[in-house]
Amino acid sequence: MSDCTVEVGTAAEGWVELPLAEYPELREPGGSANVTVPSALLYVIVACVSPECWVALWSTCTHGACGLEWRPDLQLAECPCHGSVFEPDGTVLLGPADRDLAVFAVGRRGDSLWVHRPL
Ligand code: FES
Repeated sequence: MSDCTVEVGTAAEGWVELPLAEYPELREPGGSANVTVPSALLYVIVACVSPECWVALWSTCTHGACGLEWRPDLQLAECPCHGSVFEPDGTVLLGPADRDLAVFAVGRRGDSLWVHRPL
Protein backbone atom coordinates (compact mmCIF):
# COMPACT_ATOMS: atom_id res chain seq x y z
CA MET A 1 0.00 0.00 0.00
CA SER A 2 1.03 3.59 -0.23
CA ASP A 3 3.56 5.37 1.92
CA CYS A 4 1.59 7.69 4.20
CA THR A 5 4.51 9.41 5.85
CA VAL A 6 4.92 12.31 3.46
CA GLU A 7 6.91 15.40 4.31
CA VAL A 8 5.30 18.28 2.47
CA GLY A 9 7.68 20.80 0.94
CA THR A 10 7.20 24.25 -0.49
CA ALA A 11 5.39 25.54 -3.55
CA ALA A 12 8.79 26.44 -5.00
CA GLU A 13 9.71 22.76 -4.78
CA GLY A 14 6.64 21.82 -6.79
CA TRP A 15 4.06 21.17 -4.09
CA VAL A 16 0.55 22.12 -5.20
CA GLU A 17 -2.03 23.03 -2.55
CA LEU A 18 -5.48 21.46 -2.58
CA PRO A 19 -7.56 23.08 0.17
CA LEU A 20 -9.76 20.44 1.76
CA ALA A 21 -12.55 23.03 1.90
CA GLU A 22 -12.63 22.71 -1.92
CA TYR A 23 -12.35 18.92 -1.87
CA PRO A 24 -14.36 17.86 1.20
CA GLU A 25 -14.74 14.34 -0.22
CA LEU A 26 -11.02 13.82 0.43
CA ARG A 27 -11.41 14.15 4.19
CA GLU A 28 -12.63 10.57 4.66
CA PRO A 29 -11.39 7.16 3.48
CA GLY A 30 -13.25 6.11 0.36
CA GLY A 31 -13.46 9.65 -0.94
CA SER A 32 -11.87 10.67 -4.23
CA ALA A 33 -11.75 13.65 -6.54
CA ASN A 34 -10.59 14.46 -10.02
CA VAL A 35 -8.14 17.30 -9.60
CA THR A 36 -7.15 19.51 -12.50
CA VAL A 37 -4.65 22.31 -12.00
CA PRO A 38 -3.53 23.27 -15.52
CA SER A 39 -1.04 25.87 -14.29
CA ALA A 40 0.82 23.05 -12.50
CA LEU A 41 0.23 20.46 -15.27
CA LEU A 42 -1.59 18.45 -12.64
CA TYR A 43 -4.32 16.08 -13.86
CA VAL A 44 -4.83 13.44 -11.23
CA ILE A 45 -7.28 11.35 -9.31
CA VAL A 46 -6.70 11.91 -5.61
CA ALA A 47 -8.15 9.28 -3.29
CA CYS A 48 -8.19 8.92 0.46
CA VAL A 49 -7.30 5.26 1.03
CA SER A 50 -7.14 5.23 4.83
CA PRO A 51 -7.23 7.85 7.59
CA GLU A 52 -4.65 10.54 6.79
CA CYS A 53 -3.41 8.62 3.75
CA TRP A 54 -3.91 9.68 0.14
CA VAL A 55 -2.77 8.65 -3.31
CA ALA A 56 -2.59 10.73 -6.49
CA LEU A 57 -2.56 8.96 -9.84
CA TRP A 58 -2.39 10.42 -13.34
CA SER A 59 -6.01 10.49 -14.42
CA THR A 60 -5.58 9.41 -18.05
CA CYS A 61 -5.19 5.74 -18.94
CA THR A 62 -1.81 4.78 -20.42
CA HIS A 63 -3.56 2.66 -23.07
CA GLY A 64 -5.47 5.51 -24.67
CA ALA A 65 -6.98 8.85 -23.89
CA CYS A 66 -9.69 7.70 -21.53
CA GLY A 67 -10.21 9.17 -18.10
CA LEU A 68 -9.82 6.70 -15.25
CA GLU A 69 -12.37 6.15 -12.52
CA TRP A 70 -11.53 5.41 -8.89
CA ARG A 71 -13.18 2.34 -7.37
CA PRO A 72 -13.24 2.98 -3.61
CA ASP A 73 -14.60 -0.50 -2.92
CA LEU A 74 -11.53 -2.07 -4.53
CA GLN A 75 -9.06 0.80 -3.98
CA LEU A 76 -8.13 0.58 -7.65
CA ALA A 77 -8.34 2.87 -10.69
CA GLU A 78 -10.32 1.45 -13.58
CA CYS A 79 -10.57 2.48 -17.21
CA PRO A 80 -14.11 2.53 -18.59
CA CYS A 81 -12.89 2.16 -22.19
CA HIS A 82 -11.20 -1.25 -22.32
CA GLY A 83 -11.06 -2.31 -18.70
CA SER A 84 -7.46 -1.69 -17.65
CA VAL A 85 -7.00 -1.60 -13.89
CA PHE A 86 -4.24 0.13 -11.91
CA GLU A 87 -3.03 -0.30 -8.35
CA PRO A 88 -2.91 2.74 -6.02
CA ASP A 89 0.85 2.89 -6.68
CA GLY A 90 0.19 3.17 -10.43
CA THR A 91 1.16 -0.39 -11.33
CA VAL A 92 -0.87 -2.05 -14.09
CA LEU A 93 -2.94 -4.83 -12.55
CA LEU A 94 -4.93 -5.69 -15.65
CA GLY A 95 -4.35 -4.76 -19.31
CA PRO A 96 -4.61 -3.97 -22.13
CA ALA A 97 -2.57 -1.06 -20.72
CA ASP A 98 1.07 -2.12 -20.46
CA ARG A 99 2.56 1.02 -18.90
CA ASP A 100 2.20 2.05 -15.29
CA LEU A 101 0.56 5.33 -14.33
CA ALA A 102 2.56 8.23 -12.97
CA VAL A 103 1.86 8.76 -9.29
CA PHE A 104 2.60 11.74 -7.07
CA ALA A 105 3.26 12.07 -3.37
CA VAL A 106 0.40 13.55 -1.32
CA GLY A 107 0.62 14.88 2.20
CA ARG A 108 -1.43 17.02 4.51
CA ARG A 109 -0.42 20.28 6.09
CA GLY A 110 -3.01 22.23 8.03
CA ASP A 111 -6.36 21.94 6.30
CA SER A 112 -4.92 21.34 2.84
CA LEU A 113 -3.54 18.42 0.92
CA TRP A 114 -0.38 19.02 -1.05
CA VAL A 115 0.56 17.08 -4.17
CA HIS A 116 4.15 16.97 -5.34
CA ARG A 117 4.23 17.85 -9.01
CA PRO A 118 7.73 19.08 -9.87
CA LEU A 119 7.82 20.67 -13.32
S1 FES B 1 -7.94 3.47 -23.00
FE1 FES B 1 -7.89 2.60 -21.01
S2 FES B 1 -7.93 0.46 -21.38
FE2 FES B 1 -7.94 1.33 -23.36
